[in-house]
Amino acid sequence: MNRNRIRRFTPLQRLSHIFLIITFLVQSATGLGRMYMETAWGQRLCWFFGGYEASREVHIWVGIIMLCGFVLHVLYLLAKVEWKGFPQSLFGPDSMLPRPADLKEFFQHVAWFFGARKPPEFDRWGYWEKFDYWAVFWGMVIIGVTGLLLAWPIAASRIMPGWGLNVALWVHRIEALLAMGHVFLIHFFIAHLRRHNFPMDRAMFEGSADLDAARHERPAWIRRLRDSGRLEGMLVTDSMIGQRVLFYLFGYAAVAAGLFLLIGALINVPHISW
Ligand code: HEM
Repeated sequence: MNRNRIRRFTPLQRLSHIFLIITFLVQSATGLGRMYMETAWGQRLCWFFGGYEASREVHIWVGIIMLCGFVLHVLYLLAKVEWKGFPQSLFGPDSMLPRPADLKEFFQHVAWFFGARKPPEFDRWGYWEKFDYWAVFWGMVIIGVTGLLLAWPIAASRIMPGWGLNVALWVHRIEALLAMGHVFLIHFFIAHLRRHNFPMDRAMFEGSADLDAARHERPAWIRRLRDSGRLEGMLVTDSMIGQRVLFYLFGYAAVAAGLFLLIGALINVPHISW
């Protein structure tokens, strides 16, 4: 068997990503349905979840499930930290924490877009992947806290003035719109429509990436693994065709749902009162 792929994500990480795709899409659809209730598009979205009131219930309960997933993720991170060499152990090349090299690589990458420099030799994570990760991390805190305040407004008004709820709604709204814009446009585009990945990057579903593409795009990672003698142990074969079809169907269904929400929201903007 041809071991032409390199292991990149663990089964738990892949499961977390699928969990995030499903909960994020449900939150976006139910949130937008209520926000766009004055339009036929918003009414149809709410209808899909059982109506205007039911959409709120779904939004709150799926939101709570999403936040539980986030808490589990933080516990997972704490369990993964190598406390022996702390805090230096946090800054290795396999870590998601930003490093000065990320900034350097960002500027070199932009210069390369304009043909001014050679492309950066990325290690395991590119700066855009770290950006995506931390955007979701802090986004979850902001949207979670404001969401909980809005879900239980009477309890919330015992600990804050009433106008605080108006602020919470606006912060929740803005963060949600930013998150949807970023995920449905930039994340989809960068993850799946780049030259190496087109028509879809299966790494997050399959757990492994194409070795040739990784060699080309992330040479520092491959070199590091080879020099430390770990490369051989990380090579795996391609998934079976049936699995691949499933990944494509699920991935493209998610992309289609996201684009449907983004385009519907943009087209209907003039018809809602803010
Ligand atoms: C990424 C996740 C989320 C997205 C994309 C999202 C999106 C939205 C949107 C677009 C609105 C409509 C705002 C408006 O009417 O102008 C909304 C409202 C709301 N969200 Fe979220 N939200 C998310 C997570 C959460 C979480 C975690 C909770 C808390 C459990 C929550 C609770 C609420 C509540 C209570 C409302 C007000 C609903 C209403 O009465 O109309 N949301 N959300």
